Amino acid sequence: MVFGAILAGGVGSRMNISDMPKQFLNLGDKPIIVHTLEKFRLCSRLDHIYIGVHPDWLTHMNDLIKKYIGECDDVHVVAGGSDRNSTIFNIIDDIEKNFGENDENIIVTHDSVRPFVTQRMIIENIDAAEKYGAVDTATGAIDTIVESEDGEFIKAIPPRDKMYQGQTPQSFKISLLKKLYGELTSEEKATLTDACKICIVKNQPVYIVEGEISNIKITTVSDYKIAQAMVGGVKID
Ligand code: CTP
Repeated sequence: MVFGAILAGGVGSRMNISDMPKQFLNLGDKPIIVHTLEKFRLCSRLDHIYIGVHPDWLTHMNDLIKKYIGECDDVHVVAGGSDRNSTIFNIIDDIEKNFGENDENIIVTHDSVRPFVTQRMIIENIDAAEKYGAVDTATGAIDTIVESEDGEFIKAIPPRDKMYQGQTPQSFKISLLKKLYGELTSEEKATLTDACKICIVKNQPVYIVEGEISNIKITTVSDYKIAQAMVGGVKID
């Protein structure tokens, strides 16, 4: 089976414009997370969709589903964890509790605050996860990437044509991700915030699906303004 996993366990501290996590702010006529959920529900390859939500916002999320989606048995809301990977593993625990374990099960993880994900990206993630076991979505770097250790001086300028910027979805065979995560030390678990990095430190090849510049992550107020402009809401000042 193929499971969507929308990650919404964060509180959006860098947004800092409301006491509501950014995924619940409106974009056009509905909350950001509802846009993201609708994109996932459009994909018929996904058998079930999980949303991992900060424990304080579970009721709010269930109310949003009732209001914007209505009765549905393919969407499941679970409590997120203290970091992004813990949210993924809370979702995996619930999947295995409800649907059992199967080596071929796939999870398509996605940031709730990337509402402009496309069907192509989701489908290519599923195809590549079935074939390679681990997948990231990334776009070739447009700006030159410079590396600095102290934030004051440049240490290196890697060749731009080898540089990419990571996005989501990130997709995995659940059995593979669990095995690799289980091999990490607690220190590694605390520092690896990116699920694909778990694979990289364990030498598991990760296939790259091409992202889109429009697949932005809403992190700051200026990202939010850009997203509003993209849905035709406001002008960027
Ligand atoms: N996320 C999650 N569980 C956590 C932390 C983050 O599911 N414990 C999710 C966020 O809800 C978001 C995605 O991971 O959809 C990307 O993270 P980020 O943009 O960093 O979100 P926040 O952690 O909410 O933002 P901030 O770092 O500004 O607090």
